[in-house]
Amino acid sequence: MYIVYSVETMCCLKLIVFSALIAVVRGERRFPDAFKFGAATASYQVEGAWNVSDKSASIWDTYSHKKPSVIVDESNGDVACDSYHKWREDVQLASELGLDFYRLSLSWPRLLPNGFSNYISEDGKRYYNDVINGLLEKGIEPVITLYHWDLPQKLQDLGGWTNPLIVEWFADYARVAYDLFGDRVKSWITINEGIVACEGTYTLGSFAPGIYSPGFGSYLCNKNVLLAHAKAWRLYDEEYKPKYGGKVSLTNQIIWPQAHSEEYEDLAELVLQMNGGLYSHAIYSKEGGWPPAVEKYIAEKSAQEGYTRSRLPPLTTEEINLIKGTFDFYALNYYTSWLVRSPKEGENIGKWPLYGCEEINALLEPAPEWPPTSSDWFFEYPEGLRRLLSWLKKTYGDMEYRIMENGYASDKRDLNDVNRVNYYKTHLEQVYLAITEDNVNVTYYTAWTLLDNFEWNDGYVSKFGLVDVDFTHPDRPRTPRSSAYYYANVISTRSLYDDDLKTNL
Ligand SMILES: *[C@@H]1O[C@H](CO)[C@@H](O)[C@H](O)[C@H]1NC(C)=O
Ligand SMILES: *[C@@H]1O[C@H](CO)[C@@H](O)[C@H](O)[C@H]1NC(C)=O
Repeated sequence: MYIVYSVETMCCLKLIVFSALIAVVRGERRFPDAFKFGAATASYQVEGAWNVSDKSASIWDTYSHKKPSVIVDESNGDVACDSYHKWREDVQLASELGLDFYRLSLSWPRLLPNGFSNYISEDGKRYYNDVINGLLEKGIEPVITLYHWDLPQKLQDLGGWTNPLIVEWFADYARVAYDLFGDRVKSWITINEGIVACEGTYTLGSFAPGIYSPGFGSYLCNKNVLLAHAKAWRLYDEEYKPKYGGKVSLTNQIIWPQAHSEEYEDLAELVLQMNGGLYSHAIYSKEGGWPPAVEKYIAEKSAQEGYTRSRLPPLTTEEINLIKGTFDFYALNYYTSWLVRSPKEGENIGKWPLYGCEEINALLEPAPEWPPTSSDWFFEYPEGLRRLLSWLKKTYGDMEYRIMENGYASDKRDLNDVNRVNYYKTHLEQVYLAITEDNVNVTYYTAWTLLDNFEWNDGYVSKFGLVDVDFTHPDRPRTPRSSAYYYANVISTRSLYDDDLKTNL
């Protein structure tokens, strides 16, 4: 099955690449020469093989097994895309697409079944070495995320991200990964979307391990995420960067909050500080610490509510200095935007779509003209990406910006995915404008995702893949969609190009 797809893919890609080259000759808009295109996946979403060899359970294994009702189709990641067995096919697809880099995450309980670094799984080590070496053999840079939400259950049993000791446990895990793979991996992401890991779990109560503790658990988790990231960054900076010369940062997903009208611009800025600032200010700002507007807001609100101290745990001077400056680039994940305003008298805010909007009494709604997707939190507004990049540069300064996720959700298994093609086209155009018009130094663009996969609470219903996966088939056959051909074109020409190119199958 696979070989057939593979040959077809290569044949079609060559034809399309040829016509795209003609487009370049006609003077299409080119990305800078050093600009890199890639695609991403995450361990729990694609690997499957949840109980092979000595791997222990992650919080998503436990959660999806014990509470299937929290996942729309009551599915789990037991098999997923079976990338644990089929990684060669994934690498081959990445190669056929022409990816410059492939972003994958390590499963902490696959590598360290105890959660702690006293024992390293030989099988986990072998698996990630295979994938990393396989990518390098094809000339594809491996970009590794250490934590994409599959915490070892054994550490969750000790409090997980609310236990301050996780800062040391995470640094120990990072050391193992740097020791094993650092000679070949030059781009590291410590923690993916801390806001989702913390607020999805504690504010919404819907992400594993599903502990509903809004306004408390999320802030404890937030503080420990910042400290764990900082320790892992400093460890690399001091002991590994001198010999390997790689770069380390964390990824933040930020929803662009567009003020409904001028009177809500201050509120929109507060929303940005809640959803971007809580995971960025301490690291990227000159002064460090919590974003001042949010810190003040929560302290005052906590006092009004009768608490003896702020629900947002303070950062000591030592902690502020530990966290400040622990980056080599800014890594942004972008999907969607929302309009922001204050609720009218008696109007219900709801706790979705934006984390923390309840806390600051901000109502978010899509603009009527933004096309919806299959995810209820996700509407299309490509300009939001450019605006967000400008805001980041204005707020945190001129540095290297990497887009580490961007992509489109659909509940259809369509191979001719014109909506997804359009999403990539319009968003890449905004990236191009951010670089050429706004002088934001964007260096990486990452499509989320290479393959349809287990999409957390959306199970297998929401599909983000450039490549379709048949989850009803035991072999999980993979078939590239139109968007894969479109993206291969962009990569081979390093440019945006006209609509007259064939992008369907
Ligand atoms: C692993 O999990 C599968 C279910 O996904 C089960 O059928 C199998 O027996 C388990 N294997 C072991 C070794 O526990
Ligand atoms: C952008 O960042 C990269 C990586 O730090 C650097 O090499 C490059 O010179 C920067 N480009 C600009 C235009 O500042």
